[in-house]
Amino acid sequence: MKHATGLRLAGLALGAAVLAAPGIAEAQGNLTLYCTVQEEWCRAMVQAFEKKTGIKVAMTRKSSGELYAQVKAESANPKGDIWWGGTGDPHLQAAEEGLTEEYTSAMNKELHPWAIKQWEQSKKRTVGVYAGALGYGFNTKQIAEKKLAEPKCWSDLLDPKLKDEVQVADPNSSGTSYTMLATMVQLMGEEKGFDYLKKLHKNINQYTKSGAAPAKATSLGETTIGITFQHDLVTFVVQGAPIKVVAPCEGTGYEIGSMSLIKGAKNMKEAKTWYDWALTAEAQTIGGQAKAYQVPSNRNAKAPPQAPDFSKIKFIEYDFAKYGSSAERRRLLSKWDAEVKNLPK
Ligand code: G6P
Repeated sequence: MKHATGLRLAGLALGAAVLAAPGIAEAQGNLTLYCTVQEEWCRAMVQAFEKKTGIKVAMTRKSSGELYAQVKAESANPKGDIWWGGTGDPHLQAAEEGLTEEYTSAMNKELHPWAIKQWEQSKKRTVGVYAGALGYGFNTKQIAEKKLAEPKCWSDLLDPKLKDEVQVADPNSSGTSYTMLATMVQLMGEEKGFDYLKKLHKNINQYTKSGAAPAKATSLGETTIGITFQHDLVTFVVQGAPIKVVAPCEGTGYEIGSMSLIKGAKNMKEAKTWYDWALTAEAQTIGGQAKAYQVPSNRNAKAPPQAPDFSKIKFIEYDFAKYGSSAERRRLLSKWDAEVKNLPK
C-alpha cells in the first residue's frame, strides 16, 4: 500500500515535471523568420534576438521576389511567422493581396516619416526598416586593365565595349533588380526604359538570383561592373576590394526595406516581439556590425559612417504605391520576361 502510494506520488511528480518542460519552452517560444537581407546580417539579428528574449528562431534566407512567392504559396497553411527585410515592393504587393497582417507597433513613434509612409500606404501591413540607394560599382583594376573609361551614368553602361562586362540580378527573384526595372521606367518613361533594358541586355554576362551577388562578383573581378544597391558594394569596399561605387548621374531609385507579419502566423505573439524589437535603435545598429550599410528607419539609430551619403545622391520620386501594386509588379515582370530576358545577344 505504502509502496503503491509512493509510486503514485512519484508518478505525479513525474507528470508535473513532464508538464513543466513544455511549459518552460512555451514561455520562451519559437519563431520562424523569413529573412531577406544578407545572410550575415540575418544571422547576427537572430543571435541578438535569441539572447535577448530566449525565443528560439528558425531562419530561412531568400531573395525578396522568391520570398513573396513562398508566402503566397503557403498562404493556406502559413509556415513563416515574420518576414523581415528585403525591398518594399513585394511587401506592398503581399499587403495588397492580404497575405500579411495589420499591426501598429508602439515603436512607430521613433521612425522616420518614409518608414511610416510605407506603413500607411500598406494599410498597416508593412513598415520600413531601412532605406538603400540603387547604383552600381566597378572593379577599378578591371577597368584599368581593359582600358575602359570609368562609367558615371546609367547611359554609360550601354557602351558596346562593355559587352558581357555587366552583371545584375533577375527581377523576378530579386527585389534589387525589380527596383532597377521600376527605376528605369520612372526615370525614362516606359518605352525608353524598356529600350534601355534591352540594350543593356547585350552587356549582361549573367542575371543572378540574388540582388547582392553582382557586388561580390565585382569584388572578385568576375564581372567588371555590378548593378546593386550602393550599400551592398560598400560591404566589399570596407574589406579592401578594388571597387568604386557609382551614384548614376541621371538620378536613381531606392528601396524602403520592409517588414511584415505573415497572416495566420502560428507564432504571432513571438512575431510581434520580433517586430517591436527590430524597430528599436538597439536592434538597428546590428546592421553596421554585420557589414550591412543601409540607413536605419529608427530616428535614434545612427547610420553606419560607411553608409552611402544620401544627401549627395540624386534620387527619383519613386512611386512605391504604383510600383509595389500587385497588378503593376506582375505586368512589368511579365513584360521583362517577354521582351528582355530571352533576347538574343
Ligand atoms: C540585399 C540588400 C538589401 C536588399 C536585399 C534584397 O540584401 O542589402 O538592402 O533589401 O538585397 O535582396 P534581393 O536578393 O531580393 O535583391
